[in-house]
Amino acid sequence: MDNRDRIMRLREEMVLPRADFAELLTSMSKEDEEFLYAQARDVRESVYGKEVYIRGLIEFTNYCRKDCLYCGIRASNKDCDRYRLSKEQIMECAQIGYELGFRTFVLQGGEDMTFTDEEMCAIISGLRKGWPDCAITLSIGERERESYEAYFAAGANRFLLRHESVTPDHYAGLHGGKLSIDTRLKCLKDLKDIGFQTGCGIMVGSPGQTVEHLVNDLMFMKEFGPHMVGMGPFIPHARTPFRDKPAGSLEDTLHMLGIVRLMMPEVLLPATTALGTIIPTGRELGLLAGANVVMPNLSPKQFRSKYTLYNGKPATGEEAAESVDKLRAKVESTGYRVVTARGDHAGT
Ligand code: 5AD
Repeated sequence: MDNRDRIMRLREEMVLPRADFAELLTSMSKEDEEFLYAQARDVRESVYGKEVYIRGLIEFTNYCRKDCLYCGIRASNKDCDRYRLSKEQIMECAQIGYELGFRTFVLQGGEDMTFTDEEMCAIISGLRKGWPDCAITLSIGERERESYEAYFAAGANRFLLRHESVTPDHYAGLHGGKLSIDTRLKCLKDLKDIGFQTGCGIMVGSPGQTVEHLVNDLMFMKEFGPHMVGMGPFIPHARTPFRDKPAGSLEDTLHMLGIVRLMMPEVLLPATTALGTIIPTGRELGLLAGANVVMPNLSPKQFRSKYTLYNGKPATGEEAAESVDKLRAKVESTGYRVVTARGDHAGT
């Protein structure tokens, strides 16, 4: 079987034997890549047409109790200038976002336990009441099942929690040996069970990652059936233990995006900021490889530079929600178009 056959088989059966995933990930020619992306676009267009959904990202706290070795807002980074947004500031972001055409707000933050369940629920209810036609997505890490239940009851609809790597040793290696993938997977199961549209995902090219790990991640995603998959390249941050590690590659990231689209036709798949950071046209290339979501930044401008998960993270231009017109133009250059819609998962 050659790679074209593998890609066609993946499209038809929506999965491949492990050995074929591994082969595909390591031996794609330029022609194979183009073929993969064309198939991925075809599948995405059969489900979502030419529409690209936009999400307004509100980075509401960069305090974090975790110490992930890759992340710039890890607890031991003493150089990180910490901030928290108040509920009022968050509501202001939403108001601005709504006027710009956003119908999904993503509340993303470090694991900041000063945002208690009560506090989180007050914020979620405030958003739900103020903008009843919008989806609310949370990206706030690991919490108890009861907490997740409370957020769902308060009106949150979606939850992003990248699994980072389903391979136990690799997961431990990314988190200083302190965290277990089992906890992460339990959270993901709870979230899906509660009724959230749930997103998992990985960094492509994270330190220590092998092709076998990527295959494990693909197999896990197939089995778990997420509504969303967040995948961007790893990018080193100067104030982390991984400062000298190489970034993930554009090609590897695009391959994974194309494969995930063929494996899960209805998945909501962002062309991530990290992809747009390693190469200026990264996001457009992501859209052309099967992605159908972009998530510009709605956080107040003065805080954006403080939410640095990795070096070079942009805070202006088409990354910024207030420049949504620039983003529209960029997206249109790919033949797709930004729409003002909640953009729920097609199977939901
Ligand atoms: N490079 C790329 N992505 C990163 N993330 C955190 N640190 C980095 C980095 N250095 C990603 C993680 C996390 C998400 C919020 O951001 O995958 O889940």
